[in-house]
Amino acid sequence: MKSGEFFSEWTKEKRYKRYEEYSKKEIQALEKQVYDSEFRQVFHIQPKSGLLNDPNGFCYFDGAYHLFYQWFPMGPVHGLKYWYHLSSKDLVEWQEVDIALRPDTEYDSHGVFSGSGLVVGDELFLMYTGNVRTEQWERIPYQLIAKMDTNGKIQKCIPPVIEGSLEGYTDHFRDPKLWEQSGKYYAVIGVQRQNETGACLLFQSEDVLNWSSVGEIQTSLQNFGYMWECPDYFELEGYGVLLFSPQGLEPLEDQYQNIYQTGYIVGQPLEVATGEFDHDVFQELDAGFDFYATQTTVASDGRRILFAWMGLPEIAYPSDKDNWAHCLTIPRELQLVNGRLYQQPIKELRKLRKENIQINPNVSETQQLSELTGITYELETELSSTAEQFGLLLRGKGKKGTKIYVDQVKQKLILDRTDSGFPFAENYGTIRQVPYKKSTIKLHIFVDTSSIEIFVNDGEVTFTARIFTEDFQNEISVISENGTTQAIINKWTI
Ligand code: FRU
Repeated sequence: MKSGEFFSEWTKEKRYKRYEEYSKKEIQALEKQVYDSEFRQVFHIQPKSGLLNDPNGFCYFDGAYHLFYQWFPMGPVHGLKYWYHLSSKDLVEWQEVDIALRPDTEYDSHGVFSGSGLVVGDELFLMYTGNVRTEQWERIPYQLIAKMDTNGKIQKCIPPVIEGSLEGYTDHFRDPKLWEQSGKYYAVIGVQRQNETGACLLFQSEDVLNWSSVGEIQTSLQNFGYMWECPDYFELEGYGVLLFSPQGLEPLEDQYQNIYQTGYIVGQPLEVATGEFDHDVFQELDAGFDFYATQTTVASDGRRILFAWMGLPEIAYPSDKDNWAHCLTIPRELQLVNGRLYQQPIKELRKLRKENIQINPNVSETQQLSELTGITYELETELSSTAEQFGLLLRGKGKKGTKIYVDQVKQKLILDRTDSGFPFAENYGTIRQVPYKKSTIKLHIFVDTSSIEIFVNDGEVTFTARIFTEDFQNEISVISENGTTQAIINKWTI
């Protein structure tokens, strides 16, 4: 079935029917269908039914990490959104808590949209966008606060703290991200100007309940896409970082190949009194296919940790047929190295490691490694090569598989999912690449049932992608075309 036909079943009425109106039996049947899906992940956060999108409210509070996600429970479409709550002691094993926020007030009747969390005193303050549609289907955005206590009880504060959008901006006004600085509170909100360009507004507050606008974060990106979603501001190594997801960028050489982007600008710390931000060029955070709407928080030991939605809006995915869509990435630690954000899988993920195999093959042509197979695993490799093309083929069977390789003739590092398995999103191309000139490479890779996350040279570049394969695609090969490749490979089953 084509995605168009599939989604057309999802009438407005069906998308906005409340979860609470479905019977237990209907929900159980749906959850069973999802549970049986061949694409279910093993170590990623995924919804038990329906569609997951942005990570929200990510915080360390009362001895545990709390993470929420945007959730439409009833199918693989963007319908009426809830916040679903998870908690964890170690960022690896997550307990499903429950629905945290429901669209049950006049200020969020058409969706509890994205937002963030901040610990204030002994409460976790959640600030989010309430999405409201009028009878004429006009959108009204509200920014609301909800508070969670140490018993996990959540209460919304009514009325909203910001009503509608500000003068000069359209109704695309959402995704507040909170932080505290020198005893004051700040929030960035993604907006669209009346002239249909994206921007980010800065708000300040003394008590998290009364907010006033400082104005726009003044960047040099005055005409950079039509909307900026999910902004996040933080400081790292003494620099300011504004991370956001702009919509409406045109492809530019190897960059901006996905429907929407996520990236950042780095500069001197933001002047919170004025919104001045002196920054460097915009850089994409991930070079892969499925990476959007990031959110960060500070870990209990001070590390800056990031989750992203491993998916994109407006794209049909093969799991849609089983009535679920998307997952989050693994948690990643951010570091700032020479003005660039590096991402590394958090060290706690080592807990997932099971059987280990190490081999050091020396290959003179592309070769499948018979002693190394797997569906869900972590793999570290160092390759050094004289070949025109060298790298790895993963989740393979014969010539099928997902390739990550260096092309020394083209001087590119390429992720190729052309023959990964079940095709999807092909309109946006099936390869992603970045310039690359070295004859050596270090790759740290996490493969789950239907995803691959690749950390290159200690996190300098990452490639994140969903891949939908047959379950017998378990081969691993070293690619070496016209030359020899020495590999050191360390693999752990997960
Ligand atoms: C990003 C986004 C946010 C919005 C949310 C709704 O994916 O569009 O801007 O708050 O999803 O689910």
